[in-house]
Amino acid sequence: MKSFFTLAIFLFSYIFSASGQSNVLPSFGIIPAPELVNMQPTKGPSLNRIRVFLPLEVRNPFLESLIQTTPGIEISASLDQSDVDWKRDNKLSSEAYLIKVTKKKILIKAGSSAGFQHAVISLIQMLTHHGLPLPQGIIEDRPTFAYRGMHLDVGRYFFSVEDVKKYLDYMAYYKYNHFHWHLTEDQGWRIEIKKYPRLQEVAAWRKETLVGHYNDQPQTFDGKKYGGYYSQEEVREIVRYAAERNITVVPEIEMPGHALAAIAAYPELGCGSGPYEVGTKWGIYDDVFCPNETTFAFLEDVIDEIVPLFPGKYIHIGGDECPKTAWKNSPFCQELMKKEGLKDEHALQSYFITRMEKYINAKGKQIIGWDEILEGGLAPNATVMSWRGIEGGVAAANENHEVIMTPTSFCYFDYYQSESPDEPLAIGGYLPMDQVYHWNPVPESLPVDKQKYIIGGQANVWTEYIPDYSKIEYMVYARAMAMSEVLWSKKKDYASFLPRFVSHQQLWKAKGANVANHIYDLKPVIKAGDGKPVRISFSVPQGASIAHSINGREDKALASGEEVRIEHSGNHIFTTMHSKGSGRPLELLFDLHYGTGADISINPGPSPKYSGNGPGSIINGVKGTIEKYGGTEWLGFEGTDPVITLDFKKDLNFNYIETLFFKAEGQWIYLPREIEVSMSDDGVNYKRIAGIKNIGTHDKIADVRFTPHQAHGRYMRFTIKNYGVIPEGKQGAGHRAWLFMDEIIIY
Ligand code: ACM
Repeated sequence: MKSFFTLAIFLFSYIFSASGQSNVLPSFGIIPAPELVNMQPTKGPSLNRIRVFLPLEVRNPFLESLIQTTPGIEISASLDQSDVDWKRDNKLSSEAYLIKVTKKKILIKAGSSAGFQHAVISLIQMLTHHGLPLPQGIIEDRPTFAYRGMHLDVGRYFFSVEDVKKYLDYMAYYKYNHFHWHLTEDQGWRIEIKKYPRLQEVAAWRKETLVGHYNDQPQTFDGKKYGGYYSQEEVREIVRYAAERNITVVPEIEMPGHALAAIAAYPELGCGSGPYEVGTKWGIYDDVFCPNETTFAFLEDVIDEIVPLFPGKYIHIGGDECPKTAWKNSPFCQELMKKEGLKDEHALQSYFITRMEKYINAKGKQIIGWDEILEGGLAPNATVMSWRGIEGGVAAANENHEVIMTPTSFCYFDYYQSESPDEPLAIGGYLPMDQVYHWNPVPESLPVDKQKYIIGGQANVWTEYIPDYSKIEYMVYARAMAMSEVLWSKKKDYASFLPRFVSHQQLWKAKGANVANHIYDLKPVIKAGDGKPVRISFSVPQGASIAHSINGREDKALASGEEVRIEHSGNHIFTTMHSKGSGRPLELLFDLHYGTGADISINPGPSPKYSGNGPGSIINGVKGTIEKYGGTEWLGFEGTDPVITLDFKKDLNFNYIETLFFKAEGQWIYLPREIEVSMSDDGVNYKRIAGIKNIGTHDKIADVRFTPHQAHGRYMRFTIKNYGVIPEGKQGAGHRAWLFMDEIIIY
């Protein structure tokens, strides 16, 4: 093991010195960056080998093994021989620590075992990424947020005890302190409950699994039985292992939705008559727990077995994505709603959650629920996990409830991290590392006195498209470094983070981990829609330039931030060139049409989450790709009916109009109900020239074309009607559908 680390350090110092840069990394290589680093590289005499004696309250196999595998530090048998002095300082806040390095000694102060652990890890990271001699001076550090979580869905795919331990090791290395273990799903129940053996025999197994993406048509399956579960003994082992790393495990037992596996094992838990089978594809199922006494007795029994396994204060009860179809169709539910004075099925969900909360509170635990638990009234002591955006979190904090922020657009590590077509299959979306890094978990709209209710944030790792641990490494390890700094560090600076990231990435690679490398992938900023020619620019890490070819012919290279006009239609290829590595080529097929020089306005505008490079993204000459609705091309409208106006600045004649719409109903993205195109000479009086209702397609993209005869005018207007409310039984039922569109092409 030691040789891997040595190799990593060698590689890294080579790369840095080869590029003529300093060997000293910002924050001496520590991720997340400490609050205060007042240290200077050592010049004079210094420790050239660190011997460390771990006192009892600091000693555990995790830190011992980290020390044993780090060059330059070793365990000593007694305090007399230790170069490290330990001091407990109860004035330091929970998890805070101080490291003071002098010529001869290292002093570590902390007020808790977590604080000591964080200090040792910072020291280890300095040794790994900076090396001996250690710099001299002081580090003072403490976390910004008390809750720093990473989630893992083991329902869609099952991850072994060894995998989970690797995850926990990674978490501890980056100072995360809560492991949200998503244990039950439609596609598998993964925790042994002794009173209900059919959970192990039936609910833990599915007969087969969907192949490819949920949105692929027709859907196909692999025909292979799949499953697994953790015995209670294994759960205790994981909880112990986590505790040794100062990580609290938050178990999630989903209710009332995402419960098909349990219902397949015990059909009396459903509202219908069955038969039920464990889910074989992703998404949302209509069969959910029925709020009858059998279900409550079952769930209370489950909680009775869960509580002694998990010493932490939280039990997560899910609460998300619970379709109300089964409850609407159930005479029992309708009768119950009358009896309890519940005005609708949302109130019934609130009744369900509140009743379970009371039971769980009586056991001395607190519930966490996804933000849907706000609908129909928030259970009195619940902590809310805000995932569909920040609105749920803001509402809950305004009601003085604690909130953990996990909005999809910053926290969903199952999303794509690059626009490259070479990316392995993912659920969709687009969440590059720099977007994670620039997130602030405290919403600006929250009044100052309510901000304290945001106790932290969390990276969510849903595994529909993550069947093994290597892909976890790929999807998670890079972005979770960025997230650790969001949740821990007071001062963030992406330019300071990047070289530390590269150093850590080399380390993980040397250990064999499949860490993604997207920092040299290009993210284009294409400007259009302002009446000027289309321009493109990129920012790339310092020292890099961008090669450019057009239809196979080499063109002038670009500097970082330099804007160039796109003057020719055709295949443009851009590649980062850097001494530390080049990125994957970015291929953009530009089709310059009448629209690419127009002025554009869109009312109401796209959601800030999916606003591309501004409204001009839909007339920039580049079509959105078929797999990803995130990224810089597609504009996404959350439930609104956009009116798009183009001003060509002069009267033009057209005979061809094409618009593209993305369809991914699994991700709540629907085709529009209606599109109308009209023209005007004065920008006031518009005349309809084309239109369509009921667009249908079996593909992921609907390509809508009009061929108006001899149309002309200076202004063109598209009036687009969103699909409306998503029907029951579909993903996102009850919400207004998203509308995604990209290029409007005009000839
Ligand atoms: C969720 O992503 N359904 C919480």
